Amino acid sequence: MQIHTEILLATAGQVTKNQLVKQFVENQTGGYCSLVLEDKQVVVLKDKKWKSLEDIRSIAGEVSRNLAAQKVQTATIQADVLAEKWSDADEAVTAFVEGWHLGAYNFDRYQSKKANPVTKLTVSGADSALVKIGEVRAAAMAFSRDLMNELSDVLNPETYPEVLKEHFKGTKVKIDVLGKKEIEERQMNGVLTVCRGSKYEPSFVEMTLQTDASKPLVALVGKGVTYDSGGISLKGGRDDSDMRMDMGGSAAVSGALSLLAHSDAKVNVVVLIPMVENTPGPDAVMPGEVIQFKNGISVQVGNTDAEGRLILADGLIRAEELGADYTVDIATLTGAVVAALGTEMGGVFGDEELAYKMKKIGDQNGDFIWPLPLVDAYEESLDSAYADCNNISSLSVAGSITAGLFLRKFAPKTNWLHVDMAGVMDKQKPKGYYTKSATGYGARLLADYTTSLTK
Ligand code: BES
Ligand code: MN
Ligand code: ZN
Repeated sequence: MQIHTEILLATAGQVTKNQLVKQFVENQTGGYCSLVLEDKQVVVLKDKKWKSLEDIRSIAGEVSRNLAAQKVQTATIQADVLAEKWSDADEAVTAFVEGWHLGAYNFDRYQSKKANPVTKLTVSGADSALVKIGEVRAAAMAFSRDLMNELSDVLNPETYPEVLKEHFKGTKVKIDVLGKKEIEERQMNGVLTVCRGSKYEPSFVEMTLQTDASKPLVALVGKGVTYDSGGISLKGGRDDSDMRMDMGGSAAVSGALSLLAHSDAKVNVVVLIPMVENTPGPDAVMPGEVIQFKNGISVQVGNTDAEGRLILADGLIRAEELGADYTVDIATLTGAVVAALGTEMGGVFGDEELAYKMKKIGDQNGDFIWPLPLVDAYEESLDSAYADCNNISSLSVAGSITAGLFLRKFAPKTNWLHVDMAGVMDKQKPKGYYTKSATGYGARLLADYTTSLTK
């Protein structure tokens, strides 16, 4: 049987009075309710103004997830209904469509019971271009989610480049994959050190999208640790399975590139991804060893679990070599940022003006972020008696700041930002347009940040 749903704007009272209601379900979030009438099901969006675009995305996600669970195949909403609840009707259409597709996202590859397909949405009276933008944004984020959710034996430094090649087939993105030999030739010694314990050879992926050469070159560097066991400095959590998502930064930059490529953005962007697995093994790097980086800086490995900054250093050196005008690195870098900001927003460090610019972008597009300081006085905590610096700080506090200070030593001197997304990589329960899985954080943030930059 074909089940169709109408999404209306009304108070629950109006609908129940005027129509025969068989069943009435009040949704917990209070944003809408769902009624099963004699002939069809009706979702009622409560008669209140939406306060933000995130509100729209969230409601759409909740409704869509709910309807998919009830095996509803199609749904319609009038563009006018959206326009009544948000001042900019165009924005509302895009946000609603975006939230709709993300809310019913599922990663069911390894479950015998497959999820129901997304309810097909028609926004009647809406410009199809606005609908398309919403779909493209959701798809890019879903791509990031898929990469993060995938298991580390499936997505590893040897297979990951192939997944990217496949994804970007037919787009204007050019992909260059460096294998171990080329990584050695380029002296990417952070990558070569961290990968030593793993059975997988490392990769370094460079992807470029140049659709307007007059635009400033933006380098996006993403941490691609396909599993972080801590290495010899082994972690020991109760459930460490989320550490397969330690390539969240790389998923963010890949999702951002996908969004830019599929929306015909006029940009000049290079994505740089060092890929390694961090695990103990007979050849693994031991604490105390010293890495000589290509830019002349030597680093003592105080703790093998501070591996992200070691591989990002190679990425940042590469961004400088390429002459990037703006550089952003993004990583699931520190537990400390989770302590500082929790799980609703990422932290951004670096150029203050650009950090606030990025914050404003996140406020609008849902990838929330807050600027944090690089406190110069803490830099000496990275000193080492045996090398130019250590990869961990001697302080027991301010771990995200000292990680940022470490990266700053390798960052291009101007226009650099560092995003720590450790707190926002996944959700523990479904809410709004998020499901209990990877978030896909950063795809929208970095794509919108990139398009916002002009010379
Ligand atoms: N990948 C982790 C950080 C992380 C923690 C991400 C929790 C997501 C959730 C990172 O490589 C790490 O292990 N960081 C250490 C650094 C420490 C050894 C200086 C940390 O934060 O404990
Ligand atoms: Mn680690
Ligand atoms: Zn890590």
